[in-house]
Amino acid sequence: MKNTATPTTKVWLNRTGWSLIILTGAAFLVLVAFRYFVFTEEVYDRFWAIKWWVLGHVLTGSIALIIGPIQFWKSFRNKYIHLHRTLGKIYLITILAGSLCAFVMAGTSALAISWQWAASLGILGVAWVITAGMAYISIRKKKIVQHKEWMIRSYIVTFAFVTFRIFVAMGMAAGLGEFDEVAPSAGWTSWTIPLLIAEVFIQWGKD
Ligand code: HEM
Repeated sequence: MKNTATPTTKVWLNRTGWSLIILTGAAFLVLVAFRYFVFTEEVYDRFWAIKWWVLGHVLTGSIALIIGPIQFWKSFRNKYIHLHRTLGKIYLITILAGSLCAFVMAGTSALAISWQWAASLGILGVAWVITAGMAYISIRKKKIVQHKEWMIRSYIVTFAFVTFRIFVAMGMAAGLGEFDEVAPSAGWTSWTIPLLIAEVFIQWGKD
């Protein structure tokens, strides 16, 4: 099926979409993530026993979240291809390190809440490594189209923790239950639903 959107509509949709992503991502970093850079027991609370893993996770997760939009910015990519490559490697390394910390956290702090919560985050960690790994492998093989597609999937998964917060807030506001009840489903749907929608767009114009 042909894409019927005019160039102006496409540019407008693109800019609006990225503005929303950057604004919500920035709000998550400022309101939720950056407080863990204050390294005290009071701030870390139930995470204090695994504080180094949490600090490593938040640091690497924040870097991946910030690098993502820069990598999709076409004119920046065309002008500074070397920087694009360097940032791409940093993005991959932060995800490998961030997911290692996430596996430890899933098996400890998340498991202490429920096995359903721990499982949803454990599998999210696996998806984080696979999607970023596939983006890297495809560019090493010089498959540009596949690289772009896997980067879209990868950033959706990187963004899942932000999406999760929105889904949990919506679920609780809709009266579906307390955090513990809503969190596992929000954990799963925060990346599976966006990936499904993205896949429709990715495959839309193909023969
Ligand atoms: C996408 C893959 C990710 C996975 C699998 C993952 C996994 C986890 C796990 C298992 C926990 C502990 C949850 C608990 O014990 O209740 C956690 C907490 C946290 N993660 Fe991630 N995470 C991911 C991405 C990110 C990203 C990109 C950031 C950005 C900074 C981030 C920031 C945080 C923060 C701030 C916490 C502390 C809990 C809170 O205040 O919400 N995570 N994550």
